[in-house]
Formats: sequence, C-alpha cells, structure tokens
Amino acid sequence: MQLFLAKMRPTMEPALTKRIVLGITGGIAAYKAAELARLLMKQGISVQVVMTEAATHFITPATLQALTGNPVLIDQWQNDKGMAHIHSSRVADAIVIAPATADFIAKLAHGLADDLLSTLCLARDCPLIVAPAMNKQMWSNTSTQRNVQRLLADGVTLLGPANGLQACGEEGMGRMLEAEALAQDIVAIFSTQELKGRKVLITAGPTYEAIDAVRGITNRSSGKMGYAIAQAAAEMGAEVTLVSGPTALTKPNGTQRIDVTSASEMFDAVKQHVATADIFIAVAAVADYRVARPNEHKIKKSDATLTLELTPNPDILAYVANLPSPPFCVGFAAESEKLREHANEKRKKKNLPLLAANLAQNAIGSDENELVLFDDAGEHELPRADKLTLAHALLRHATSLYLKGNAQ
Ligand code: C5P
Repeated sequence: MQLFLAKMRPTMEPALTKRIVLGITGGIAAYKAAELARLLMKQGISVQVVMTEAATHFITPATLQALTGNPVLIDQWQNDKGMAHIHSSRVADAIVIAPATADFIAKLAHGLADDLLSTLCLARDCPLIVAPAMNKQMWSNTSTQRNVQRLLADGVTLLGPANGLQACGEEGMGRMLEAEALAQDIVAIFSTQELKGRKVLITAGPTYEAIDAVRGITNRSSGKMGYAIAQAAAEMGAEVTLVSGPTALTKPNGTQRIDVTSASEMFDAVKQHVATADIFIAVAAVADYRVARPNEHKIKKSDATLTLELTPNPDILAYVANLPSPPFCVGFAAESEKLREHANEKRKKKNLPLLAANLAQNAIGSDENELVLFDDAGEHELPRADKLTLAHALLRHATSLYLKGNAQ
C-alpha cells in the first residue's frame, strides 16, 4: 500500500489537511468504505462518517468509528452538537458518498432530505462526490440514468461505477470502484490544482461532414473520453476550452464549450484559441475526409450510381504541434490492431511529446477504457478504469512532462 500511495502522490508529502464527510448508504459495497476511510486517513485527510440506517445493516458504525477516531453520525434526531446537518457540512471540504445506492442517488437528484445524510447533502456548501454501487439492471434503468444526468448537470462529481462481477452473481456496470481507485481520485481532486492558471484546449467527439441537407459522414465517437479529460482538467484548476463535435453529453462544470459540426469548423475554433493555450489535447475523432461539394438540397434517389468525391480534411493536431511555438500537445490514437507500432509511428509523424493509444473496440461509446501512453521515456500502461479515472491519470502524466519542459 505504501508503494501505491507513493506512486499516487509523487510530489506531495504526508498531510493534506482536508476534511471529508464520508457518507455510507445501504449497499453491499459498504464494506469497501472502511478501506476507503483508512486510505484517506493515511493521506492526512480527516474523515467524519455519516451512515444511513440501511448502511448499518452492512457494516457496523463501531468499525468506522475505530478507523476514523470520530463518532459516526446516523440519526438526525440524536446528536450532541445539534444542527449536525449544518455543522458537519460547513466544516467539510467535500462530501463523498461511497457507496451511493440507486435510492440515495434518486434522493440527491430530487433534493429530498429525510435522513441526516441526505439533509447534510442538501445543506452543504462544498463539492459533492458520488460513487454509485448497484445491480447492473438498476444502474441502466432509465430512472437511474435520468437521476445521474441530473446530478452531473448540478455539478456533482461521479466516480465510477465500474464493470465487473456483482454481489448478486451477475456481471455488468454498477460495481463500486475499488477503495484504492476512489482514494486516488479523491486525492487527485483535492491535491492537484497543478493546472491552476493554465489554459487547456481540448477537441472531443466526432465530426459530421455533410453530404447534402440531411445526410452526412460521421463516426461512432461518443465524446466521453474528451469530456472526461475536460472535467479532470477543470478539477485540476485549468481554464478549459472544449471544442466539441456533435455529442449527447452535458458540458462539464467549469469549462467553456464551443460546439462545432465539421472538421473545418473544429479547425477554425482551434486556430482561434490555440495562441493562448498552454496544453492542447486532441481527443476528437476527426473525419479524415469531407465531401468535396455537399449538395445544398436533399439528393433525390435514382437508379444511377451515386459517386461522392472526398477531399482530405486538415490534420488539426499536426497543424498545432508544428506551430513555431506550440502548446504542449497530446494526441490520441484509436487503433484496431498493432497498437504500439501505429502509436509510435503516429507520435513521430505528428511531432508529439505525448500520445495516448487505445484499441478502438475497447473504447468507442464505452464508459471505460484502457490506455498506453507513449513519450520520449517509453510506454506507460494505464489499466482499465472508468474514463474519468483515466483522464486524471493521463493529465497527471501530461502535466508533469509539461512542467518539466517548462522548467528547462
Ligand atoms: O491520424 P489519426 O487520425 O489517427 O490521429 C489521431 C489524432 O490526431 C487524434 O489526437 C485526433 O484528435 C487528431 N486528429 C486531428 N485532426 C485530424 C485527424 C486527427 O486533430 N484531421
């Protein structure tokens, strides 16, 4: 564990002097909360546990009290300080709900306050971080997904869930992230304002190249990885400009989004903002070609063969990386085979200090991914995780290279 923590915070020494309210709700993953509390404490974070009554059926308050050294709060009608919901949230730097059940997420989404923990969340004056844990069917239910979207729109940070074997024996999305991964993300959110005062320009999502008034050429990129990087960069204190192709995603809090459709529009937006950018991260799946002469009106069906002439699009990343004084450039490579070979080749060809490669079949549309980073020092594997966790890890790596480069 010591090794893990050393890796997690290479430059930060023991105490973070932060205070967290760790909210535990009633799911089987509640047992992981004990390890999470312990890992946070090891980082110098003081932990005040608040449990729902249901959570006490899965893990005892005595365990958490012993680990944190603080009495566990459960009942809103029984506490010796009075106004526990106001007091506890005022002294906290963040509230972390782990595990967060479907029921508790629904309560948060609707602003309900019928027990101490939900009341505390409503009365808070600090960031709220939620680690969902539930059966895969409950997670994919439209109501849960609607509630999750509501929370994201309200600026709540979601960590996970992950894919995997569930307590019920089924396999799928809904497992709570492991305590180590959660602690790592929480510490990252707290400790790394390393990008404060820096401008980060990001492209994300697909592009859409019109064929005629109603048809076009696009691809299956969801934009999730680019949006996760935008959110992580904002959490690290950066001023983020997100140039986004058409996606169904909500703008990450604290970022500026510029909506574009075609590669040419994306190129224009990037050219407009690149002069002030410190870091440029090209995540967008830009169409390689556009239709040379798109039809103004819908092309009518006929029995004749239809031939479309395609013109190559500008390579936005190569353009930026080869400017006289470029920002620190990070590229992505989605390959379907020979990942290393293609990634190394692409990094050299585009003149990039850092390239993140993944297998397209592992990444497109998914909430999870795994990456291999290529830089002058070689390759670094980022194991399978949710895209926000990966985004933080990628940014930590990029930031350290960028800062090193600037110090020289
Ligand atoms: O050459 P390839 O498309 O595989 O390169 C992928 C990388 O280059 C990604 O970072 C992508 O965002 C960027 N790119 C770009 N403009 C293009 C094509 C790719 O910025 N026209």
